[in-house]
Amino acid sequence: MKNITLSAILSAGIALAGSAAFAEGQPPAEIKPFVIDGIEMVAEAQAPDFIDIPEIFSGWEFRSSETQELQLDDFDNPGMLEVDNALDNWNTVEGTAGKSCASCHADGPEEFAGLATVMPRWNADKGQLETMEDVINRMRVENMGAEPWKWGKTDLNGMVALINLQSRGQVRNVAIDGPVADLWAQGEEIYYRKQGQLGMSCSSCHEENYGVRIRAEILSQGQTNGFPVYRLKNAHLNSVENRFKGCMKNMRAEPYTPGGPEFHALELYVASRGNGLSIEGPGVRN
Ligand code: HEC
Ligand code: HEC
Repeated sequence: MKNITLSAILSAGIALAGSAAFAEGQPPAEIKPFVIDGIEMVAEAQAPDFIDIPEIFSGWEFRSSETQELQLDDFDNPGMLEVDNALDNWNTVEGTAGKSCASCHADGPEEFAGLATVMPRWNADKGQLETMEDVINRMRVENMGAEPWKWGKTDLNGMVALINLQSRGQVRNVAIDGPVADLWAQGEEIYYRKQGQLGMSCSSCHEENYGVRIRAEILSQGQTNGFPVYRLKNAHLNSVENRFKGCMKNMRAEPYTPGGPEFHALELYVASRGNGLSIEGPGVRN
């Protein structure tokens, strides 16, 4: 079974370099503790009991030291430019109500410290699961009378990064029970579902083969605690969904509808696999 998976990776055009492929996930070669802006990150933790691996690691731990360095200093982190842009947006009046974010949230984005640790989460008034993107666009539409920002693009990704930054270092603790229990189970099913022409699932790479080198990349556990992440590849902040979409294309699977129910369920489930890791954002990746 494992061999089928690995040959599938090969035929995906992501040639396995190095001598041997591992039969199961391997921890990073070296686990480095790290600090950003004086805040210590929890980048290694005991895995939540619902997954079949002993430990969870931030994606940062699997990157090369050059890429890691870029995330350690906000002056070097290119993602911070988009956070600055988000701060401008925060103060910009837009829409029919003549308001900006700042008009109502006078204490600044600092008010949202801790929020990222529990997102996505259930909105009882709306009777739906909300990601950070959903909350921000709800604010724009309902409180500002403005257009929602485009899904997966700079304005929205930047604002998510600005808000997530307020929780930097705090440990993720997404709820998986109560009103979200069914959605969470749906996300779990999607995570393990074999799909696309290669018959792969998310777990084929991120659970069974993390630590394995494929081409220039070392597979991580596919955690989302560093998102949005700045990618050197496209020189932008990338949302969780942007990344899911890219992975689905690599699996030769048709990506789900942007902002749709499958991606929401998957985002919740994948977030919960990182319960115990610090919110880092913005991360820097290849
Ligand atoms: C007209 C006033 C108003 C404006 C303008 C406004 N908000 Fe809000 N915001 C609220 C209120 C009231 C709540 C709490 C109730 C809720 O979640 O809807 C809230 C909640 C939030 C939350 C969730 C906080 C939590 O802990 O649950 C976030 C995040 C947020 N706003 C961000 C923004 C951003 C970003 C903007 C600008 C794009 C914005 N808001 C514009 C009034 C506003
Ligand atoms: C063919 C192997 C493969 C499959 C299958 C795959 N991915 Fe990935 N994924 C990658 C590679 C390669 C990267 C970049 C290196 C890394 O972080 O693992 C990546 C990165 C990620 C990241 C970013 C991690 C970080 O810290 O930046 C997330 C999140 C992710 N994948 C989620 C998923 C999800 C969800 C699925 C299933 C829909 C999936 N992946 C399926 C290969 C795969």
